[in-house]
Amino acid sequence: MKKWLGIIALFSLVFALAACSDSSDGSGGDSDGGGESASGKVEIFSWWTGAGEEDGLLALIDLFKEEYPDIEVENAAVAGGAGTNAKAVLATRMQGDDPPSTFQVHGGAELNEGWVAADKMEPLDDFYKENDWMDKFPEELIDLVSSDGHIWSVPVDIHRGNVIFYNMKVFEENGVKVPTTFDEFFEAADKLKAAGVVPLALGDKESWTATQVFENVLLGVLGPDDYQKLFAGEIALDDAQVVEAAEKFKKILGYVNEDHASRNWQDSAQLVANGEAAMINMGDWAKGYFVNDLDMETNKDFGYFAFPDTKGDFVVITDTFGLPKGIENPKEVKKFLTLLGSVEGQDTFNPLKGSIPARVDADPSKYDQYGKDTMEDFKNARLVPSLAHGSAASAGFLTKVNQAVNIFVTQGDVDNFIQALTNASSEM
Ligand code: BGC
Repeated sequence: MKKWLGIIALFSLVFALAACSDSSDGSGGDSDGGGESASGKVEIFSWWTGAGEEDGLLALIDLFKEEYPDIEVENAAVAGGAGTNAKAVLATRMQGDDPPSTFQVHGGAELNEGWVAADKMEPLDDFYKENDWMDKFPEELIDLVSSDGHIWSVPVDIHRGNVIFYNMKVFEENGVKVPTTFDEFFEAADKLKAAGVVPLALGDKESWTATQVFENVLLGVLGPDDYQKLFAGEIALDDAQVVEAAEKFKKILGYVNEDHASRNWQDSAQLVANGEAAMINMGDWAKGYFVNDLDMETNKDFGYFAFPDTKGDFVVITDTFGLPKGIENPKEVKKFLTLLGSVEGQDTFNPLKGSIPARVDADPSKYDQYGKDTMEDFKNARLVPSLAHGSAASAGFLTKVNQAVNIFVTQGDVDNFIQALTNASSEM
């Protein structure tokens, strides 16, 4: 797991931020223990707006308001899957020394090589100890939100990225079995295509969704050790295994809906919900969307399985919130962070969001079968960080990969793609 944190990041956006970093250190690292009356305002910045995204956040805010009726909460969410727009807005605000009270940030490179390296965050070591959290989160997860010997944020959830959701009726009607390998996947996809069903839904209006598919193909082909080595710069991006992954990715793209470029992730998930498409590879926020927004039932209307050849692996995406430097009301923000890291907060948020709790002592009975299965998998699987969601490598590298993927999806030129990835590797 240390490798996750050891990846050197030299990305332009955060460097720019580091250059104009604010040295004020007004908020300190202590918890105030909670309980006493509090007022003021907490602005919560995320990209959880609308369908499939905001249910968990709103429930958490309600819980917070119940406990602290005198603290005003501003939900400053900016629409756009995977933070496509929110991250740019956040960068502008941080650069202008106008940080939100707290903001959504992925554990791993996005946090540590981004905002921490830019000296924009307060350490939370004492806060963790005061809340007695050191053994309440898996060690690997604490590692993922730590760097330079300090802890920098509080994980609210764990999402899995290497999962495929499928329409159970469509599989049944077409006599398709759940595939576990790439060969079985292509066999199933051929059968579905012949029957006039779109095998795999894709909505890459924002290119991260296609990058997410590619990262899972990489994991399936390289396996977890070499996948990690790739992002640690120990395996070249023009390695034969990466070329093989690019070829498989190209083949998979031959099975997606034609209008993929005009859909976002929710629009593409709808294709699976209404039976026009059979499967979708999407992080399990899609489960929250299916269940809470589309009224679908787990293991009745939709099923799930690990992305081909990645069964024992778990691509981790963790949403976390920290304490930016220079905010006016750290005391109130810490009350929100305390709720976010509590069993009650996590068990309120995660069943709605589709994710599993980051804490080890949450209550499994609050989760559906998908949640229960995923909690088990998380304990037993090999954990690897997601590139598409900013944990495996720097933001600068990810931006270039997204661009390369975007071009590859239309042109399908493996040589050009590998060249573009190789050129991007200097940013890793
Ligand atoms: C976040 C999830 C979010 C998803 C889609 C991911 O990067 O970690 O919380 O639901 O993007 O917007």
